[in-house]
Amino acid sequence: MAKPSLAMIGMAVMGSNLAQNFAEKGYDIALFNRTAQRTQDVYEAARGEPYAARLHPVYGDLKELVALVGRSGTYFIMVKAGEPTQDVIDRLVPLLSGDAIVVDCSNAHYVDTMRRQQALRDKVRFFGIGVSGGEEGARHGPSIMAGGESRTIYDRRLKRALEAVAAKAPQDGSPCVAYLGTHGAGHYVKMVHNGIEYADMALIAEAYDFMRRVLGMGAPAIADIFERWNKGPLQSYLVEITADVLRQEDPSGKGYLVDHILDAAQMKGTGTWMVESSLAIGKGVVPVPGIYGAVESRAISARKAQRVAAAKLLPLKAKRFAGNRARILKDLERALYVAKVACYAQGIDLLQAADEEYGFGGLDLARIARIWRAGCIIRARFLDDIAEAYQKGPMPQSLMLAPAFRRIVLKDMASLTAVCVAAANAQVPAFVFDASRGFILQSSSAQASANLTQAQRDFFGAHTYERTDRKGVFHTEWSGDRKERPA
Ligand code: 6PG
Repeated sequence: MAKPSLAMIGMAVMGSNLAQNFAEKGYDIALFNRTAQRTQDVYEAARGEPYAARLHPVYGDLKELVALVGRSGTYFIMVKAGEPTQDVIDRLVPLLSGDAIVVDCSNAHYVDTMRRQQALRDKVRFFGIGVSGGEEGARHGPSIMAGGESRTIYDRRLKRALEAVAAKAPQDGSPCVAYLGTHGAGHYVKMVHNGIEYADMALIAEAYDFMRRVLGMGAPAIADIFERWNKGPLQSYLVEITADVLRQEDPSGKGYLVDHILDAAQMKGTGTWMVESSLAIGKGVVPVPGIYGAVESRAISARKAQRVAAAKLLPLKAKRFAGNRARILKDLERALYVAKVACYAQGIDLLQAADEEYGFGGLDLARIARIWRAGCIIRARFLDDIAEAYQKGPMPQSLMLAPAFRRIVLKDMASLTAVCVAAANAQVPAFVFDASRGFILQSSSAQASANLTQAQRDFFGAHTYERTDRKGVFHTEWSGDRKERPA
């Protein structure tokens, strides 16, 4: 039996599945959990598997784990982000030598990862990697976003193993894993992945609500539409599972399951982190209204009791659409695509700003799009086009201005407007569709309304303004002599 040089700490769903993935790909790996019983359960459950001999359960303490794997081994930590992760690091690192590799695979906040990278610099080689794809991904191939102190060490010690377990893009078989940059880069990119996931899900939910409440369609008919869309440019994991979800019958025999699920969304917080990060970039706010809208929309949904009470006092009832149904359904498909482009553009804007702010060392946007093509929750056909947009030639100022996407925005903006108008007329909210339309319009307006904002600020607070016709900074005595003076 070979001695493992890898260890997986944390035998919850993600850790146990990722460990089995490593074993299946030929890597001997030690299994460890805070409670030995859980390790034993995982090991027992995998006993009959052909890779079982490569799983090495450790039932004692971390010292026993290190005795087996070695002081300079590779330790993957897949426990809850935050304190539980910190606790493992605090107890593990003193047992290791300086060339041991410690990899935090949790959904850690990038600021924690940056801090840990700094704190552990002289103690071990620390990496923070984002793993996407849920249970199925962890077991059979997730998308992996890696960050850490050194690309050289990554290439030498982690690359091969991570490429073995990562998902393979169906287009070209390339592994969906990459070293993306220093310290928090991996977890930052994973956070942006999740923010985009929120927006993607919100847009799909709004399209569903539009078909349900504006067009009066039932779950199976809506499933047919999503299934059809999944054969075109919208092809994606989230659209695909939406059709499946909508077809699921209620186990208690009352029609369709989706119609009986409480309409109050929860969230673990990564979408909110993305919004917070967009507000904290030194050079100024990076607008991410689609992601913000998705977070807000979940938050409003969670206030179920207040909504029910308000519905009685503000009976703004949904109204049915009376126009051409075939046409509005076509518009809806196009609107979903354009709005999705706007939300991805916001994610990419933030990645670029954060790269500058935190010095990740040059995030490769084409590479990021490519490693999102399989394994992760936002995997989608159009990621190939995003990769292409950032692959060669001059970098577009925004995804929406890359030639392929610019053409689509120009062609389909009218559809997005038609959907927003139809939803508004029907009194059905379309938060993220509206936010996407506003973002596209405002981002491409040569003339904004901020001249008035600047004038108001100068009026009440002497905050000064610049002029369009002359260089300089000015202030006007709005209620005094009404003279304008250089500030
Ligand atoms: C992934 C997902 C995953 C996330 C869940 C739930 O990439 O596999 O993003 O990391 O935790 O989707 O997230 P919320 O509870 O915030 O919806």
